[in-house]
Amino acid sequence: MERKQVLVPEADLARQRDFEEKIKAMFAGRQAHPVACVDTFGCQQNVADGQKLMGMLQDCGFTLTEEPAQADLVILNTCAVREHAEDRVFGNLGALTHAKKENPEMVIALCGCMAQESRVSERIKKSYPLVNLVFGPHALWKFPELLWQVYESRKRVFSVDDEHGTIAEGIPVVREKGVKAWVSIMYGCNNFCAYCIVPYVRGRERSRDPQCVLREVRELVEAGYKDITLLGQNVNSYGNDLGIGYDFADLLADVDKIPGEYLIRFISSHPKDATKKLFDTMARCPHVAKQLHLPVQSGNDRVLKEMNRRYTREKYLELINYAKSVMPGLVMTSDIIIGFPGETEEEAMDTVSLVEEVGFDALFTFIYSPRPGTKAAEMPDPATRAEKQKWFDKLLETQNAMSAKLHAAYIGKTVRALVDGESDDPAFPLTARTEGNRLVRLKGDKALIGQFIDVRITDSNTWALYGEPV
Ligand code: SAH
Ligand code: SF4
Ligand code: F3S
Repeated sequence: MERKQVLVPEADLARQRDFEEKIKAMFAGRQAHPVACVDTFGCQQNVADGQKLMGMLQDCGFTLTEEPAQADLVILNTCAVREHAEDRVFGNLGALTHAKKENPEMVIALCGCMAQESRVSERIKKSYPLVNLVFGPHALWKFPELLWQVYESRKRVFSVDDEHGTIAEGIPVVREKGVKAWVSIMYGCNNFCAYCIVPYVRGRERSRDPQCVLREVRELVEAGYKDITLLGQNVNSYGNDLGIGYDFADLLADVDKIPGEYLIRFISSHPKDATKKLFDTMARCPHVAKQLHLPVQSGNDRVLKEMNRRYTREKYLELINYAKSVMPGLVMTSDIIIGFPGETEEEAMDTVSLVEEVGFDALFTFIYSPRPGTKAAEMPDPATRAEKQKWFDKLLETQNAMSAKLHAAYIGKTVRALVDGESDDPAFPLTARTEGNRLVRLKGDKALIGQFIDVRITDSNTWALYGEPV
């Protein structure tokens, strides 16, 4: 397959840096010290995008704050995956437009996945006149130019065209302090699961050049990051569009060769593309955490088919069993949707039985939320909210018991964990993560933060392990 030109040309990126200089000069001319706030909702992809926005904002001369009320520019970096996520954003927008009446110079911007939905951008155009700038994920790299237009023209700017997705390399990033870092290895999604809005707002799959990914990970390791997560909506199809016979397992194996003391994780994996080669690679690479997030969504074949997931319960179990056989002690997590249109109680209970059969360490569980424009939003959905809630509660109860049981099995054992921060519990003032990404509440001194240490587990509950350094 021939690779489409998806890289943003260097000359276009250089133009963006010119806009950054113009904005900086404009503020300097006014002797202003502008402050910006980026408020990010949604998944790690969005967090990673938010970190790029912060990088560009710094280059434009802004300092950053987490307090919208103190900011001259507030950017809501939004998520469209469920209705609740959208409602929260409209709530925040209401509060912000109120704040702007007090401070008319404030600039309000909305970006991220909601901005790419025409339904949303039209609503903002009509009903939120105080919002200055709206741009979708496709336009992220052009942010300096868009912001310049806002300041120069004093008009509202909308950049929400449904362009084919691109990749912009070299945008500056403001990372979280600490030991964790995120690296996008690909963008977009081709899968069109019937319930999901992501392919509509994030465009088609495109993979970053392996050398760019490897360079970024190497720099992070050298800078002292110790827990690095490779990101994509479906990392298992990484490389398909590169046409060089290089897949995600190859990338993982190459990342693993980077010297240093660190762990590599990845999210998310799609079961239809997960291979034995991937699990074998995970098993033999010492830097790759023995942890697998493999969203199953449902344990019923009819529902899986309606969801357009393209695997069966049996195929999923086969994958899991293979992964466990090559990685004993593998920590497993998954995503589940309860109440997909047309799902019956019996079908929902198939999901509960699958969860029991697999024995996930933890789950991310959601009640189905219709997303306008997706296939599932058109399907008849006879079950009531109360019924769905009942099935959901049953699922939670089952999973909580499983998590508690699996956590209890750690008691008395010594595990390696990365101390990653402080907690507000004086008896256990530190937090740490096991290789499998289980939360450990830890006794010990702050000086341990940033180190891999051996921890003896003394107690546990559904959500966490408790322990002390040995
Ligand atoms: N690309 C990732 C996940 C993206 S969204 C993957 O496929 O694993 C994260 C999770 O949100 C999904 O796995 C799914 O469980 C849930 N989700 C997506 N759309 C949803 C919807 N319309 N209603 C409820 N949950 C949804
Ligand atoms: Fe959505 Fe499915 Fe793509 Fe995940 S794989 S982002 S659930 S369409
Ligand atoms: Fe939400 Fe967009 Fe991520 S819809 S889950 S922020 S890809």
